[in-house]
Amino acid sequence: MNNNPIIIRFENLYKSFRDSNGTQNVLNNISANVRLGEFVTIVGPSGCGKTTLFNLILGSEKPTTGQILVESKSVTGPDRDRGVVFQRYSLFPHLTVLQNIVFGLEVQEFSLASRWFHPIRYTKKRREFKEQACDYLDRIGLQEHADKYPHQLSGGMRQRVAIAQALITNPKILLMDEPFGALDNQTREQMQHFILEQWQERQMTIFFVTHDTEEALYLATRIWVLSPYYKEAEGSKIVIDHAVPGPHPKPDSAKYTDWFTEMLARLRKEGLDRTYLQSIREFDLSHPDAGK
Ligand SMILES: Nc1ncnc2c1ncn2[C@@H]1O[C@H](COP(=O)(O)OP(=O)(O)OP(=O)(O)O)[C@@H](O)[C@H]1O
Ligand SMILES: [Mg+2]
Repeated sequence: MNNNPIIIRFENLYKSFRDSNGTQNVLNNISANVRLGEFVTIVGPSGCGKTTLFNLILGSEKPTTGQILVESKSVTGPDRDRGVVFQRYSLFPHLTVLQNIVFGLEVQEFSLASRWFHPIRYTKKRREFKEQACDYLDRIGLQEHADKYPHQLSGGMRQRVAIAQALITNPKILLMDEPFGALDNQTREQMQHFILEQWQERQMTIFFVTHDTEEALYLATRIWVLSPYYKEAEGSKIVIDHAVPGPHPKPDSAKYTDWFTEMLARLRKEGLDRTYLQSIREFDLSHPDAGK
């Protein structure tokens, strides 16, 4: 069990959107504590609010009520302690691999104004960034692709660059929104190993959205199912919050054990089956840091 300090706290989080057609409740009273170094995977039906939850963690959207605390400070906007990788479009198409990665470092260090007022410092720093980015590309085996543009890379390589771009600034929290959803199975497995290696190397907390329950169970130290099915008009709740037993990371062979198959079947029934969820009111929040 992870006894690390709590890095992020969700406190009675509600999110609704209002438009001319009325109010749509998306998130309904999300509460939980997440500790440093956890790998939380999130599954749930399309439209249940997974990306919305990420936007709230990033601070690009504000909760309707409730709050998110990162290291005890309320999230009020984006910050370098939270990085993000999307399924697509994380990279700038007009920048090379190296430039995309340098960009992550530049954003952290320089505002536009300081580039203008400190041009010499900016040029010197830029050189350092470039060296740092080259070292990093070397470490993740992408050095030979440094001068290519995103459209010249395979899907797996693009996602490795997107992960590198998010990680080079050393965020404490990495949000990954279906990052491997567009990849073929073999590349997806390679990328699962890649992200587990990166996770192991740093004391990083990951939130990872996927539609693939097998991927969710394989990667996670903790699994959430977000669902509106119990009462759709009220928005989604966490209906399952489970600690996934170790080892972490798991060997590939874990996927072929009885435990894994049984756990998958349970997740699909108790977390994703509409009829089942409509018939219960008590959710399976057995994780000790689950919100009640
Ligand atoms: N800015 C917004 N304005 C109005 N409605 C929004 C906004 N963002 C999201 N929504 C609505 O909130 C609901 C949840 O959307 P969200 O993108 O979070 O779902 P999701 O779980 O990520 O779905 P998917 O699995 O398809 O990516 C949707 O009905 C969506 O239309
Ligand atoms: Mg989404």
